[in-house]
Amino acid sequence: MYSRIAGTGSYLPSHVVTNADLERTVETTDEWIRSRTGIRERRKAADGETTGDLAYQASLQALEAAGVDAADLDLIILGTTTPDLIFPSTACLLQHRLGANGCAAFDVNAACSGFMYGLGIADKFIRSGATHKALVVGSETLSRMLDWSDRSTCVLFGDGAGAVVLEPSEEPGVITTKLHADGAYKDLLYNPVGVSTGFLDEPNHGVRVMMRGHEIFKVAVRTLDRIVGETLETAGMHESDVDWLIPHQANLRIIEATAKRLGLSMDRVIVTVDRHGNTSSGSVPLALDEAVRSGRIERGQTLLLEAFGGGLTWSSALIRY
Ligand code: ACO
Repeated sequence: MYSRIAGTGSYLPSHVVTNADLERTVETTDEWIRSRTGIRERRKAADGETTGDLAYQASLQALEAAGVDAADLDLIILGTTTPDLIFPSTACLLQHRLGANGCAAFDVNAACSGFMYGLGIADKFIRSGATHKALVVGSETLSRMLDWSDRSTCVLFGDGAGAVVLEPSEEPGVITTKLHADGAYKDLLYNPVGVSTGFLDEPNHGVRVMMRGHEIFKVAVRTLDRIVGETLETAGMHESDVDWLIPHQANLRIIEATAKRLGLSMDRVIVTVDRHGNTSSGSVPLALDEAVRSGRIERGQTLLLEAFGGGLTWSSALIRY
C-alpha cells in the first residue's frame, strides 16, 4: 500500500508588498533584494486574516481537486510556526470549519519543513492502513512574526498556504520521504520568545525572527545536496529520473545550487520565491499547486520536493504524481 496525491490547493492573501514598498520603510533596495534572494514581491495577510483562514481556503481547493468530501477525512496535519492560537491547534480549528469533526487533527512545528514533515507522517499513516483520506496543509502568517524595521529579515518572508489530499494507492504515489533535524543548529534561525521562556517588554512582545543568514545559506546548500542524494539512493533512482524539482522557496541562489547538483536545468525547477518570498511551511505546497494548476506538472511525472528551515530541520519527498 502506498499513498498518492489526489488533489492540491493553495491560497495567497490579496495584499502584495513589493520591494519598492520596502524601500520606503527600511534601508534597502530592490536591486539588493533581487540579487541576493530572487524575491520581487510577497503577500501579506489582511488585519484579522489568520493562518487558519489561509489554510481553510487552500484546503477547500485541495478537497475539490481531489473530489473528496471533508467529512470523509480521517487525518488532518497542519504545518505552521504561526498558529492562530497557542491551543487548540490550528488543525483542530480547520477541522471544525471544514466539517471533518472527529478525525485526528494536529499541528506540526518543524519551521519551513512543517508541510514536508506532515507529508511524511501522513504517508506512513496511509501505508499502515490506519488512514484513508488525509489532508496535509502548510500555512503561515509570517508577517505577524517579523520585525518590520529589521531589513535583514523582513524582506525575505511572506504569507501563504498550500494543501494536498492524500489517499491510498496500489502504485506509488509517494515513493519515499526523508525527515531530519539537528537541534545543534538552533541558534541559526529562531524566535527568541515563547510561553515557557516568557515574552519581552518590546514591540510585538519580542516576537521576531532571529537569523544568521550567511551561515544558514551555507548549511542549506550543503544539507540539501546531501538529502537529494540520499532520497534518490533510497528509491534506487537517478538524477535523470526527476522531471521536476519543487524546492523550498527561500532563496533563488539556494534553489539554483540544488538544481545544479541534480543536473537539472532551471526550466525543470518550480520557482515561486520571486512572487511569494519565503512562506515557510506554505512554500512547497504552494509551488506544487501552482505548477499543477498551470499544467506544467502532469500525472505520471516524478517530483522531488525538499525543504529546509529552523531547528534546523530538513526534509524531502520523491513522488510519482
Ligand atoms: N538591504 C540592504 N542591505 C542589507 C539587507 C537589505 N535588505 N539585509 C542585510 N543587508 C546588509 C547587511 O547588513 C550586511 O551589511 P554589512 O556587510 O555592512 O554588515 C550585508 O547586507 C550582507 O550582505 P551579503 O553578505 O552579501 O549577504 P548575503 O549574500 O549573505 O545575503 C541573505 C543575505 C539573503 C540573508 C542570505 O544569506 C540568505 O538568503 N541566507 C539564507 C537565509 C534564509 O533563506 N533564511 C530563511 C529561512 S531558512 C530557509 O528557509 C532556508
